[in-house]
This record gives sequence, structure tokens and C-alpha cells, in this order.
Amino acid sequence: MHVRHLSLVDFRSYETAEVALEPGVGTFVGLNGQGKTNLVEAIGYVATLASHRVAQDAPLVRSGAEKAAIRLAVVRDGREQQVELEILPGRANRARLGRGGPVRPREILGTLRTVLFAPEDLQLVKGDPAARRTFLDDLLVARQPRWAGARADYDKILKNRNALLRSGRQGVDRGALEATLPVWDEHLASVGAHLIYARLRLLRDLAPYVGKAYDEVSAGASDAGLTYRSGLHEQMAEALAAGEVPEVDALQAAIHQTFEQQRRSELDRGVTLVGPHRDEVTLRLGELPAKGYASHGESWSFALALRLGAFQLLRHDLGTDPVLVLDDVFAELDGTRRERLAAMVADAEQVLVTAAVAADVPPELAGRMYDVTKGSVTARE
Ligand SMILES: Nc1ncnc2c1ncn2[C@@H]1O[C@H](COP(=O)(O)OP(=O)(O)OP(=O)(O)O)[C@@H](O)[C@H]1O
Ligand SMILES: [Mg+2]
Repeated sequence: MHVRHLSLVDFRSYETAEVALEPGVGTFVGLNGQGKTNLVEAIGYVATLASHRVAQDAPLVRSGAEKAAIRLAVVRDGREQQVELEILPGRANRARLGRGGPVRPREILGTLRTVLFAPEDLQLVKGDPAARRTFLDDLLVARQPRWAGARADYDKILKNRNALLRSGRQGVDRGALEATLPVWDEHLASVGAHLIYARLRLLRDLAPYVGKAYDEVSAGASDAGLTYRSGLHEQMAEALAAGEVPEVDALQAAIHQTFEQQRRSELDRGVTLVGPHRDEVTLRLGELPAKGYASHGESWSFALALRLGAFQLLRHDLGTDPVLVLDDVFAELDGTRRERLAAMVADAEQVLVTAAVAADVPPELAGRMYDVTKGSVTARE
């Protein structure tokens, strides 16, 4: 698929922008702070309903304005679809598909698929487990948008269960608490088991693509791998770390068993200690974990390999290419890695690149150039 047109109103530094795009490579060039990343951030937001840079929506709205709007024309298999999103910080966003009436924002998920690589992705390798959980869960949704609902349900259940456990520490009668808790145990175990199951299947499918991408980027045979580390009871955790994918029922039973083991600690600490939100994915190079061991260059290659692996997986699954966005990557890579990356992505249906220095982008990726200056975008002839 590809984006044929991008319109912005009061998004970030843009009062308005109208950008015609084409399949193939499009490169946004301009000095620092001119608005290159803002453009691709808008495209990524429509695909995922989240920014790759900020957790809150407020910074996305141009300073002084009340709301921002992004409108895209997305082409898939020759058919064009309009998708529109209004961002209203502190309120529910508004979405529209085609010429129809408003839809819930979640309903536009799947219309556009993107894989976005940005310098922030170094956190996937060096950062906290939360970054890697989010990577996995976002990819789950990119693959099958219905997972967005399960994810939201899980967050709600977790919040409620935590509130209940916390109330126990604040002197609420423990008898009453222990009578209500099983209801939330049941909800959490049910939705949580489905989520863990989906993550495990995703990891199993993704891992070979990531390993291959790592070797291609780094020109080595490095055995880059991903391991699921679960906070479930020991026996189950070992099976999951070994790459087994148990049935949902078995996972659900394991969550219940682990609840029993952890009951005391949960009541003492007033927080849920079991479930997908406590699990993590570790990245390793051979036998060593990437975090804490990998060099800067290796960490970069791994982060890139995760995104390129995700791209390959989605391409394989969807039967169409997601739009590949490379924000500021070439400046970070040496000449050989640049050329290798260029060769790997050159056949994607659409690649959008941002670069402060045009010369950093390898000639193989020479496509359409756009000059970005102070919130205005001009295509070069
Ligand atoms: N909500 C906002 N309102 C107004 N301006 C904003 C807003 N958010 C960001 N900006 C401005 O947008 C600019 C940053 O744009 P962007 O991140 O796209 O730059 P860039 O071209 O990618 O730069 P670099 O080459 O450094 O990555 C900054 O000057 C910032 O002040
Ligand atoms: Mg930028």
C-alpha cells in the first residue's frame, strides 16, 4: 500500500500542509527542526493512533490551536481510501473513513499500515521492558487490528484489579476484598492468557525475520534472537522461554496458579504482579543479552532489524507492503550499512525517508525529493 496524499491542519509546526506522494522512495530533506519528522509522525499516527515520540496528544496540536487534523489518501491494490483523524487533546479523537459519517478512531486501524523506524527505537534495545512490550503489542495490532480491543480491555481490567488491591492496603476490610478479587482474577486470566498466547505466536513468526534482517544489516551470522520472559510460575516460564506456545487454557490456568503463589505479595504491595504487563521480551546476540552487552553499532543494527523484521512479517501476512518510514536513520549508519539498508528496502512499495543531509541517503534510494523549510513542503521537480 502507499499514501498518495497527506493533508495537515494545525498539526505540530504546520498551519496547513498539502503533500502529494508517490509509490517508491520519497525523501524529505531540510535543516534540523524544519518539520520533517512531523510529517512522518502524522502518517504514523493515522496507522497506529499513537505518536512514536510522545505519549500525550497535546504536543501534536500546533501551539495556540485547539485541534489538529490529518487527512490521508491511502491506495491499496489500486483502490483508494480517504481517512481522516481529528486530534482533540483531553477529549476523544474524531475519525472518518471515506465519505461516510464519523467512526470510532479504532475503526480506522488497518486502513493504513506503517512500519516506522526512528532514532527513538534505540530504546527497544537499551531501554526498559515496557518499550519491548509495546513493540510487540503494537505489531500485534498492526497485524490484526482487533487486538486493539483486547489490549484496551486488559488495561481496564488491570486498572480495576490494582485499585482493588490498593484499597486493601488502605484499610478496606480484607474479607470483602478477598471476596471480590476472584472476579478480577478471572477477567485478567482470561484476557491476559489470550494476549500472552497472541504474543507468543507473533514472536514465533517474527523471530526468523528479525534474525535474517540483523545478519543482512550487519553482514554477519550473529544469531540474533528473541526470548519471552514471563513472570508466570517457574515451570511455565521455562517453557515459554524455550519457545513453546501452549494453548490458551494452559496459560489461563498458569495465571491462576501464579496468582495463588503471589497472593500474599500482591496484597502487601497493592499491585498486580502477574500477567502480560509483567512479562518481557529479551533480545540476545548469541548467548548474550543485547541490553547491557551489545555495542552501540550492534544496538542500532538490532533496533533496525526489529523494524525490518516487522516489515517483512507484515508484507508476508498482508499480501501488501506496509509503508516503510525511515526517520533520520542514515546519519547514524556507516557507509556500508547505509548501502545494505538501502538495498534491503529498495523494493518496498513506498519508503518515506527523512534526512537533514541529503548526501547521507545512498544513491540507490534516490526517489522524489521534498524540501522542508519552516513548516512548508515543496517537491523538487
Ligand atoms: N505543537 C507544536 N506547535 C508548534 N510547533 C511545534 C509543535 N511541535 C513541534 N513544533 C516544532 O516543530 C519543529 C520540530 O520539527 P521536526 O521534529 O519535524 O524537525 P525535523 O525537521 O525532523 O528536525 P531534525 O532534523 O532535527 O530531526 C520544532 O521547531 C518544534 O518547535
Ligand atoms: Mg527529525
